[in-house]
Amino acid sequence: MCGIFGYIGKKDAENLLIEGLENLEYRGYDSAGIAISNNNKVDIIKHAGKVEELKKVLKEKHLLGNVGIAHTRWATHGLPSELNAHPHTDILKKVTIVHNGIIENYLELKKEYNLKTITQSDTEVIASLLAIMPEKDNLEKIKNATKLFKGTYALAIIFSNEPNIIYLAKKESPLMVGKSGDDIFISSDANAFKKYCKDFYILKNNEFAKIKYNKIEFFNKSKKINKKINKFLNTFSFENKNKYLMQDEIVQTPDALRETATFFNNFKNIKNYFNNVNKIYLVACGTAYHSCLFGKKYLEFLNIPIFTEIASEFKYSKHLIDKNTLCIFVSQSGETADTLSCVKKCKCKTLAITNVPNSSITFACKKTILMKAGWERAVASTKAYSCQLLVFYLLKCLLKNEKAKTNTLIRKSKEYLNKLNLKSLASKVLNYEKIMFIGRQGDYITAKESALKLKEISYINCTACPSGELKHGTLALVDDKTLIFLISTQKNLISKNLLTKEEIEARGGKCLIAGDFDEADIVLPHLSSDLMPIISILPFQSLACEVSIQKGYNPDKPRNLSKSVTVE
Ligand code: M6R
Repeated sequence: MCGIFGYIGKKDAENLLIEGLENLEYRGYDSAGIAISNNNKVDIIKHAGKVEELKKVLKEKHLLGNVGIAHTRWATHGLPSELNAHPHTDILKKVTIVHNGIIENYLELKKEYNLKTITQSDTEVIASLLAIMPEKDNLEKIKNATKLFKGTYALAIIFSNEPNIIYLAKKESPLMVGKSGDDIFISSDANAFKKYCKDFYILKNNEFAKIKYNKIEFFNKSKKINKKINKFLNTFSFENKNKYLMQDEIVQTPDALRETATFFNNFKNIKNYFNNVNKIYLVACGTAYHSCLFGKKYLEFLNIPIFTEIASEFKYSKHLIDKNTLCIFVSQSGETADTLSCVKKCKCKTLAITNVPNSSITFACKKTILMKAGWERAVASTKAYSCQLLVFYLLKCLLKNEKAKTNTLIRKSKEYLNKLNLKSLASKVLNYEKIMFIGRQGDYITAKESALKLKEISYINCTACPSGELKHGTLALVDDKTLIFLISTQKNLISKNLLTKEEIEARGGKCLIAGDFDEADIVLPHLSSDLMPIISILPFQSLACEVSIQKGYNPDKPRNLSKSVTVE
């Protein structure tokens, strides 16, 4: 949540900062701002709304200079307003700062140090505190101030007495530095400067950096340190063909599946990690949690207890974890705070399944399986979900010594997506007040994921229900304003599902069946039951996207949400 970008070099900072913010906007988009050093002063421009709004302001008034920091925000403390937008300063403008994370004790600090602030943001307290720190050296000020913080932070700081230096500090929220010739870039996601740099540094917790023209120095709490340089992993190239990222990302699914299947060969040793495992916990949030529900089905053959847990619940419950327990954490971003906090709680075998190398969850887990879905920026997860299911399928094949059959999956998903057009179905969805997704077994999990997709980007209040549960309560909601999508991909359940359709239609509701048989309303390609869930979600991802567009929304940036949820 929230994105930090920074630049020091010979080029004009403004355009680079804006480009960086546009790349990071998936992390938050309720306000944005930049600060640029020029002639020993730091100029700030910020605005409520998306980066687009900030760009309009900058058209009227450019900020000149080669040193700058920038921020795109997802509000935690205070309304998404210009006042609360970053960069923040202390009252005398000695310190300019952008911040990701939350300082939990900011009100206590404000009181204890009698800090004068004008915004509702915890970040302003950091700037105000730094401004009154007694140390002469700015790095020492930062080191000592951060000792007082309870919470999480990635900070980029410019002091007015050293306007050509950017200082960094990090705890839990990601922060990276890239260098290309004389140009130095800072970002909370290295992808945002990948276009310019071949390699980059990753700050670890309680590390600091002092960056000036052509020079980067790293420090831990006590001394200067050398850091290892990281190379970007090659990933498949894709074009942005459509208006929205989400449309592109759905279309990229077959490539993402192919890359992930090939890359999985690097993780075959993980098989040994399953030796002596006595139980498994699968832990995640949102869409990644739905892939865990499938993960349980894929791994059930192990005949050991397998539990699926929503991360924000898991951390408050009591568990039977011992040294032979395996906890698997699934996270596209690898940065989700709820999931990360669970990893820290688990003193046992830990395995991350993520799409982002070097992310916090991969660092925190003992083992990692990396997917290669490519950069996913639309808030609604699509191709990454498909790859998460694929990883669980591949894991099952590996553990069972079975040959994985991914070629047909990749070919059929490509053919299917090429001809998929749900514009007219989407316009029908708009005629109903209530939308439901139902199914049995794995199809019920697809129903849950479909409902999440539709609600998060179209704001339609929809729900998922196991088909058999309908008559135990939810059927009371069904009337002629209700549209129900019944997902039916299991041959032995078709007749039961047809009965459910009749029950719905007898109450005036409309029921559309999605299945891999000719009579279905949404006809899916046929694959083995193991691979069907990877195909059966595709029409519902596309449908959600199309409904959102037809309602006049931007599916990539739904209200109130952010791609990477780095607060608990
Ligand atoms: O990055 P993660 O996979 O850990 O994210 C977990 C959820 O926040 C995420 O899947 C969310 O539910 C998506 N917006 C769903 O489309």
